[in-house]
Amino acid sequence: MSIEINNASFTYPNGYVALENISVTIKDGERVAIVGQNGAGKTTAVKMMNGLNKPSSGDVIIDGVNTKDKTTATIAKSVGYVFQNPDDQIFNQTVRAEIEYMPRYFKFSEKEIEQRVNYAVELAGIEKFLKINPYDLPFPVRKFVTIAAVIVSKPKYIILDEPTAGQDKHGLEILSKMIDRLQKDGVTVLTITHDMEFAVNNFHRIIAMAHKNIIADGTPQEIFWNDKVLAEARIKKPIIGELAMQLALDGNILFCDELVAKL
Ligand SMILES: Nc1ncnc2c1ncn2[C@@H]1O[C@H](COP(=O)(O)OP(=O)(O)OP(=O)(O)O)[C@@H](O)[C@H]1O
Ligand SMILES: [Mg+2]
Repeated sequence: MSIEINNASFTYPNGYVALENISVTIKDGERVAIVGQNGAGKTTAVKMMNGLNKPSSGDVIIDGVNTKDKTTATIAKSVGYVFQNPDDQIFNQTVRAEIEYMPRYFKFSEKEIEQRVNYAVELAGIEKFLKINPYDLPFPVRKFVTIAAVIVSKPKYIILDEPTAGQDKHGLEILSKMIDRLQKDGVTVLTITHDMEFAVNNFHRIIAMAHKNIIADGTPQEIFWNDKVLAEARIKKPIIGELAMQLALDGNILFCDELVAKL
C-alpha cells in the first residue's frame, strides 16, 4: 500500500504553476521528511496527497485508487493533513468540539468517540485544554490541537506541515514521542520541515524540493552530505554533520554517537 504521485503538475487558479512533473512513492511504514526552500512547492505537493489539491496533469494514487475518483472527505479518512497554519484548520469553539468534529461527522458511537479523543489528546499532550477556545491558546498549542483533530480520525497516513514551528523543547519531545507511537500503531508519518535537526533525528527518508520539483530523495546521509543538494534546496547541514565536516572527519556523520565514536 502506498501514496503514489505520478508525473503530476499543479497550477493554481491564478495561473501560477507550483509543481512541474513530480513523481514520488511513499510506502506504508515509512517516516519521510520533505525539506527545501520557501515556495518550493512542498505544501502544494502534500495537499495533492490528501485530495485538497487535485493535480492539473498526472495522477495521485492512494492505496490503488486515483484521487480524481474520490471526494476530499473520503480521502481524508486515509490521508490526514495537518495544515501549516492551524488557523486555516480550526473552526470550532472549544478544543473538544474541534477534535470530536470528524468522528461525529462519521457517526461513530459515543464510546468510540471518547476512546478516539482520549487517544488523540494524549498523543498531542493537550488533555488540559479540552474546554478552552482554541483561539485562547498560543500558536504552538493550537498546532497540537489541529494535530489531535487529525489523529482522531485514525488515518493510515498522517502529514504534518511544519509541526516544529514555534515549539519549545517540551513541544519537540511531544512530537518525537508522538511520531514513534504513531509508527508503532501502523501509521505512515510524513512531515514538511525547515528544522533539519527535527528531520535528521526523527525521519529515515528525506525528500529535498526546490523550484517546483523534487531534486533529491534518499537517506539522511545521502541528502545532508550532498553539498549541491543543500545549496540548491537552501537547507542547512544538521549541526553534528557540520561539526564533523569542520573537523574533517570522514563517514558522513550525522549523529552524536557516531561523532563520539569517531573522536
Ligand atoms: N493559492 C495560491 N495561489 C497562487 N499561488 C500560490 C497559492 N498557494 C501557494 N502559491 C504559490 O505556490 C508556490 C509554492 O507554494 P507552497 O506553499 O507549496 O510552498 P512551500 O514549499 O510549502 O513553501 P514554505 O516553505 O514557505 O511553506 C509559492 O510560490 C506560492 O506563492
Ligand atoms: Mg509550506
